[in-house]
Amino acid sequence: MIKKCLFPAAGYGTRFLPATKAMPKEMLPVVNKPLIQYGVEEALDAGLTEISIVTGRGKRALEDHFDISYELENQIKGTDKEKYLVGIRKLLDECSFSYTRQTEMKGLGHAILTGRPLIGDEPFAVVLADDLCVNLDGDGVLTQMVKLYKQYRCSIIAIQEVDPMETNKYGVIAGDLIGDDLYRVRNMVEKPAPEDAPSNLAIIGRYILTPDIFDLIKQTEPGKGGEIQITDALMKQAQNGCVIAYKFKGKRFDCGGAEGYIEATNFCFENFYKTGKAY
Ligand code: UTP
Repeated sequence: MIKKCLFPAAGYGTRFLPATKAMPKEMLPVVNKPLIQYGVEEALDAGLTEISIVTGRGKRALEDHFDISYELENQIKGTDKEKYLVGIRKLLDECSFSYTRQTEMKGLGHAILTGRPLIGDEPFAVVLADDLCVNLDGDGVLTQMVKLYKQYRCSIIAIQEVDPMETNKYGVIAGDLIGDDLYRVRNMVEKPAPEDAPSNLAIIGRYILTPDIFDLIKQTEPGKGGEIQITDALMKQAQNGCVIAYKFKGKRFDCGGAEGYIEATNFCFENFYKTGKAY
């Protein structure tokens, strides 16, 4: 079954400058936890314990976060502050972490291909940590997707209905409805203008990919913005076989920009921090 989860985290995070000048976007805190920790918790909940992170220059804080800080441990040992580290200790106990670096930021598709040596020849999940996903009423989004993978055994991508005027921020799909909230993908366009969009069903930052995707990415020419887009490789996969798009249950906050980040902060403060579920 799926054990590996890849976190492409090498992007520049230009929408969040200057905060992201010397600090990885994935380390921005939502209340008291960095974005990437929410993502790794979601992965662990889905049974994915082998965490692979694609980093880049200036991203060392990510590695330090998923490691023991002996000085700190020593400092707070025996105090009531130990509770603050319970969550991160659980991740360190139950997951393994491996890293590779993307040396040139040539897009999400390229970042995923950079992770190939860490993944090998098996299906894997991909989490874009700046999309914070939560479901208060049941399974997390990755858990929902892993269940679907068991059933369909092909790539699964998470989608969400977005404002039709905002399709130019996303990869957008067209597909045939094959079940509750499930589409077999027929077409996919990266960041289409509203008048060119095949629907308002936008791809968000959760994927389960079969390993044939790596060769398809290799064959993909740079697309929009000179970047190697995962959407283009997925389109080939959809044409050759099967890609399923899933309208997930839960909420997604785009924490790559200020508006979504503030909404996520308010949501997590109300639902996790104030209720004592934040550590
Ligand atoms: P984004 O499109 O959010 O790009 O990438 P970005 O550079 O991080 O942010 P902005 O748009 O400049 O503000 C989506 C995900 O893909 C990763 C990013 O780290 C983010 O998690 N990514 C993107 C890479 O790892 N490498 C790349 O070359 C591009």
